[in-house]
Amino acid sequence: MDRGAGRAVDASRRGARRTADRWEEHRERFEAYLGGLVFSGEPLLQGLVEAMRYSMLGGGKRVRPTLCMEVAGLFGAEPGLVLPSAAAIELIHTYSLVHDDLPAMDDDDYRRGRPTTHKRYGEAMAILTGDAFFGEALTLITVHQEGTCEQVLEVVRELADSTGVNGMVGGQVVDMEFTGAGREADPRTLHMIHRYKTGALIKSSARIGAILAGAAAAEQRAVSDYAMELGLCFQIVDDLLDATSTREVLGKSAGSDAEQGKATFVGVYGLEGARREADEAAARALAALAPVEQSAPGDTSGLRKLVLFVRHRGH
Ligand code: IPE
Ligand code: IPE
Ligand code: MG
Ligand code: MG
Ligand code: MG
Repeated sequence: MDRGAGRAVDASRRGARRTADRWEEHRERFEAYLGGLVFSGEPLLQGLVEAMRYSMLGGGKRVRPTLCMEVAGLFGAEPGLVLPSAAAIELIHTYSLVHDDLPAMDDDDYRRGRPTTHKRYGEAMAILTGDAFFGEALTLITVHQEGTCEQVLEVVRELADSTGVNGMVGGQVVDMEFTGAGREADPRTLHMIHRYKTGALIKSSARIGAILAGAAAAEQRAVSDYAMELGLCFQIVDDLLDATSTREVLGKSAGSDAEQGKATFVGVYGLEGARREADEAAARALAALAPVEQSAPGDTSGLRKLVLFVRHRGH
């Protein structure tokens, strides 16, 4: 290798390290912000507040809020600007997990390395904890998020859209309808479930970062396409890990999808097929970044790195 090439490799290593530092920095800032949220001083509500803090702190990869921060930074905003919305996204995601684990849904006992919220605080409190997260998410955005009225309204619209019937909840419903013996999911149904239940909120996380940073419509579209494919990949890998990993590594039940007869990529395509589908979604996510790279001077290395993390995590 000549010295020029050596310097290029060194520079790219330094770049990779800087990118890793940036994710770490987003994560630290986000954890500090989340930990500092105060929901109520009313003594009678401290049980609810405790269950909320138990569910939202001390675990979680924080993929959605740090993605929101990274996208905001990509389009020139200070990533800390989006912290209220990033926290709202994480609260809604946490609500979806608390409800997903309930006996009426996936009936799981472990989450983020600890007993699930309903195991620790009972089912009624777990249901209400999830409900409370949704309301608090709206407060965070409408009271604490800086931006124009149009931007804040757009953030609310984005979250409503991606968590309602045509988003997370819709996907969860179809997931439940295809759980157990009797109804086999075909590939179209499976893609629909994964895009709705997981892809939609991950897409919104990126879009919200772009909206608040004032990105142009075409840039918003490009990061949406990127994040939708990233979200699909994320859920395919979640299915793969459920089939191949352990509770110790995942911090949540492993093997429960097959036990319960869930419609998963592993069930429909097999392990190798599911890996191929995950690779293809990852490749589409990377390809979707091309318009941003052509039009904006921003650094997409963080978003590229996230694709690799999502595709290869837990292995
Ligand atoms: C788990 O989400 C549920 C899915 C949508 C696959 P995460 O894997 O992001 O869970 P945490 O937040 O890191 O615990
Ligand atoms: C859950 O999918 C997706 C949402 C919570 C919206 P899973 O049921 O596969 O998530 P895990 O495996 O329990 O985390
Ligand atoms: Mg589920
Ligand atoms: Mg589950
Ligand atoms: Mg799963």
